Amino acid sequence: VPLAPYTTFGIGGPARWFAEAVHEDEALEAVRFARERSLPLFLLGGGSNLLVSDEGFPGLVLHLASKGIEQNGGLFRAAAGENWDSFVSHAVSLGYAGIECLAGIPGTVGGTPVQNVGAYGQEVAETIVRVRTLDLETLAFTEMEAADCAFAYRRSLFNSTARGRYLVTRVDYRLTHNGQPRLNYADLKKYFVNQPKPSLVEVATAVRAIRREKGMLLVDGDPDCRSAGSFFKNPVISAGHYARLATAHGSAIPSYPAHAEHVKLPAAWLLDQAGFHKGFAQGRAGISSRHTLALINRGNATAADILALRDTIIAAVEAKFGIPLEPEPVWLGPSHN
Ligand code: EPU
Repeated sequence: VPLAPYTTFGIGGPARWFAEAVHEDEALEAVRFARERSLPLFLLGGGSNLLVSDEGFPGLVLHLASKGIEQNGGLFRAAAGENWDSFVSHAVSLGYAGIECLAGIPGTVGGTPVQNVGAYGQEVAETIVRVRTLDLETLAFTEMEAADCAFAYRRSLFNSTARGRYLVTRVDYRLTHNGQPRLNYADLKKYFVNQPKPSLVEVATAVRAIRREKGMLLVDGDPDCRSAGSFFKNPVISAGHYARLATAHGSAIPSYPAHAEHVKLPAAWLLDQAGFHKGFAQGRAGISSRHTLALINRGNATAADILALRDTIIAAVEAKFGIPLEPEPVWLGPSHN
């Protein structure tokens, strides 16, 4: 089964085995199938934060397509296979606050706790109360409270210490009825300078508009959207490191506060400084014409083309700033797991 069509990059070789699960028992069955044959297993959600190698994957790719949203007051239980943006629309239209700034993000509900999806001043760690998973070690379904998920910037238990161990089947979010929309992020504040009290729906709509402008909203046929969104994480460095860097650089370096005594640098800015601008091309790989942080498939690019550009950029930023950029998308290659 060719995997390229399952990814927003539109890149990648075939999966040796492919299964689609709508119900939890089907997921369990597929996992058992892989276990019995000692096949490596990969869990595919929306494919929007994924780069698949040209060789593809020699194991079983399990695509979770479960659907369903249950609501009990502010508690929303959403099946992992639900489209994330539709879920946001649903919650916002019912007057529930907490995820309105995460409108327009591609992918599925099940992917959100894994990388602690965040944008425009919100992240899912703030509203997730519980994650239901299939533990691939014990083959038992378990429910984990948010406090046990080790959420941090673009990070959780699921993509760090326990990477590959859990298949997320359902996520519970606690949302706030008639809550105020979050208006923290500069781009978003700017959008509403002349409108002091926008509604939840207006904020979600504004976020989609800002994302569209930056090529970060999936639009069919838009070449800037053949990407996995941000290709690098924004590096977090200590305040001391930042001070030394700013002195050496000789002019202001933009930064945002991070956890205690740390700052986050905009990776897009680092790229620009190192000579990689919007619209940059290296063969069939390139940089979005609307956002420096999105590497794109310019048409028929291979994973190797993207990796070559990745390495060029990492080396250049490292040489100029001494900061090793970390890729953000998940890599699926022959030796995964
Ligand atoms: N900037 C540039 N050039 C650009 C774009 C941005 O220099 O082309 C610099 C500017 O200094 C700007 C700063 O980067 O002020 C921040 O830019 P932006 O607001 O676009 O956000 P970002 O830090 O580049 C992050 C997330 C996005 C998320 C936005 C909005 C990461 C890795 N990326 O991007 O998430 O949508 O903030 O909150 O944290 C994703 O993860 O795929 C993603 C799209």
